[in-house]
Amino acid sequence: MTKNFLNEKELNALLNNPNITFKVYDSLISTNKTAKELAENGAKEGTVIVAKKQTGGRGRLGRSFYSPEGTGLYFSIILRPDFSPEQNLLITPAAAVAVSTVIEALTDTKAQIKWVNDIFINGKKVCGILSEAKLNAKGTTEYVILGIGINLTPPKGGFPKDIEFVAGALFNAPQNDTANEIMVKTVTTFLSLYQGLTDDKIYTEYEKRLMLKKAEVNYTENGEVKHGTVLGVDRSFNLIINKADGKEFHLSSGEVTIGSGNLVK
Ligand code: BTN
Repeated sequence: MTKNFLNEKELNALLNNPNITFKVYDSLISTNKTAKELAENGAKEGTVIVAKKQTGGRGRLGRSFYSPEGTGLYFSIILRPDFSPEQNLLITPAAAVAVSTVIEALTDTKAQIKWVNDIFINGKKVCGILSEAKLNAKGTTEYVILGIGINLTPPKGGFPKDIEFVAGALFNAPQNDTANEIMVKTVTTFLSLYQGLTDDKIYTEYEKRLMLKKAEVNYTENGEVKHGTVLGVDRSFNLIINKADGKEFHLSSGEVTIGSGNLVK
């Protein structure tokens, strides 16, 4: 890890945008947790909380996100969207599209999105996204914390045993493009999509990277494990599954596994 790895001054200078501020911490339990606390205390949209490592990085469905020092980007963007509920649904897919675009430009490799929001390259998960929203009493959005974790290089000694079959990194070794530059590119790419958030663009870009398209999967419907074939996603980013009985099922949350029980996460 170089001295400059995720340097607050350099990040803010590279960005040169008064509407976005990076706050860098050496270590946090979770950037989502700290971002939430800051948002509760009035932090502005565009505040980006960055940690060089997380001791309790969180993933979807109560999982953890392995976040060792010096080999990954762990950050959370505070958003205060003034969107319709339909537009709100686009925030997380827009982040998946933004990260995929940046990864493809950096690695010259096609990124795939494993529904809902995991990014894979060469069959390995290199990025996870966890967004958490707070609604106010009127049912409108007070803030959204968009948390993104990207593995840049493999950790020293490799990934822990329980995730080594699925976890990967963008590069085998540190590249010329520094972590600061990749961070700034990712945040600015996301924010430019966020500012003109339209359905069509995000949907098309997401759909074309959808992993498991046409794959046979297991999923859970009303607590029961079922089997079907993935057809795509609908406009609300639900997974469309062709069920064994030929009917379509739109899955809004949870996890799918390939074939007969192998968890693809
Ligand atoms: C997942 O894989 O299920 C989502 C992982 C999200 C990880 C990022 S790292 C930065 C932010 N802080 C967290 O605690 N989680 C997210």
